Amino acid sequence: MAAKWTIIAALALCHTALAEYTKFPEGFTFGVATAAHQIEGGWNENGKGENVWDHLSHNRPELIADGSSGDVATDSYHRYREDVEELAYLGVDFYRMSFSWARLLPNGRIDNVNADGVRYYNELLDALAAHNIEPLVTLFHWDLPQALQDLGGWANPHMIDYFRDYADFCYKTFGGKIKSWITFNEPYEICEDAYGDILKAPAVDSHGVGNYLCSDTLLKAHAEAYHLYNETYKPVQDGKVMISINSIWYEPKDPSNAEQVVLAETANQFKFGWFAHPIFSKEGGYPAVMIDNVARNSAAEGLKRSRLTQFDEFWTARIKGTSDFLGINHYTTHLVTGAGVDPGAKSPSWLKDVGAVVSTDVGTDSASAWLRVVPSGFANLLRWCKRSYSDPPIYITENGYSDRGELMDYKRISYFNDYLSEILNVINDDGVRVLGYTAWTLMDNFEWRAGFSERFGLYHVNITDPTLPRTAKLSADYFKQLIANRELPK
Ligand code: NOJ
Repeated sequence: MAAKWTIIAALALCHTALAEYTKFPEGFTFGVATAAHQIEGGWNENGKGENVWDHLSHNRPELIADGSSGDVATDSYHRYREDVEELAYLGVDFYRMSFSWARLLPNGRIDNVNADGVRYYNELLDALAAHNIEPLVTLFHWDLPQALQDLGGWANPHMIDYFRDYADFCYKTFGGKIKSWITFNEPYEICEDAYGDILKAPAVDSHGVGNYLCSDTLLKAHAEAYHLYNETYKPVQDGKVMISINSIWYEPKDPSNAEQVVLAETANQFKFGWFAHPIFSKEGGYPAVMIDNVARNSAAEGLKRSRLTQFDEFWTARIKGTSDFLGINHYTTHLVTGAGVDPGAKSPSWLKDVGAVVSTDVGTDSASAWLRVVPSGFANLLRWCKRSYSDPPIYITENGYSDRGELMDYKRISYFNDYLSEILNVINDDGVRVLGYTAWTLMDNFEWRAGFSERFGLYHVNITDPTLPRTAKLSADYFKQLIANRELPK
């Protein structure tokens, strides 16, 4: 293994600048992440209900790049013991996983509990405990029970109560085994991509209305789940609750262009600030630039009220401060090139509200069109978070690189190495409080609308073989040694 590590280290360094800092601080933790719908399969087995991704891939298969689905995914519903062995091989401190709401509560409501779902997660949690791997559990990683979508999904304010009840059920049922919870994974993707556009299920393009109805409901639901834990469960279970916010970091294409500088900040407020500002800023509520831009555009569209509903005093206060850590999912940086809206842009309504033309013409590429490799952008984002939100304690809850599934995945290794190096830079030079890092993802899996065409795994999964064999890629050994040494290769 030592020889292999030397080779991996040499390869990583071929692609990267020499890191100034290599040692991770005492107590810094490492994990890998997955999400239920992307790995479990068993989509209708033993009482599981249909979710919005089952529904989308069965009813609109043309929206999935390779026509695949999560029906079988990587079959972790049956093969979870193998997966736990992989986690043990890597030596991770924690495993970030999610619960499938519809496996536990098939119609989304607590009046109908699926005992097999409870059994499954108990067995998985016990297997993790047997290997001393801490679970970090996401309550909602995009797989809404279809029965709740039929009531309007996240655009329906009653979702606040349904989500609170679901969280209550999970805390009560599994809380003895879980110390760290994430309420929502990537609220921007949930609201903008799924209710403002058709990029994610349920794929309702509402032309800039449903996305903001969703964020109103989602932030309130998050706050209710947070307060419930704090008041009722924390005194006994002693855990923490956070939210994971995704970030495409925006930079001006020309840093000396004042208009681009302002527009890049606007884009960051619309992307990250949309969900971070109400929770982590001193004043709470949506960022001022969002309130202004959406109000102006709504008026210009002849609407009597802004498409962005605002929080009253009660909700502003109730949402503020409801996260023990700032969870950040980060992959990439894009550029702002000027004012206006690119007509071919994804999320055109949202970009219209931002008022900027954006470009992915930066850094080097990956298998995902949106994922450009720009490590310095990560450092800039982390410094911005420290400045904007009063120096919060941060967990990187996702970071990773896509290719087509190569076993000798040098590019993934250099991606990890360069992005981890930026974390060390901001910890040491800027005092940013990053406490842990999560690689996306344990194994190649169902990458939503990209199906299996874009692969992020440390383990390769051969989906043409019915036994779905997993094989460690070179990056798995890179990560294993990184965790063992708590240090980047020198
Ligand atoms: C964000 C999501 O949380 C995860 O589900 C997805 O697979 C990765 N990013 C890669 O796109």
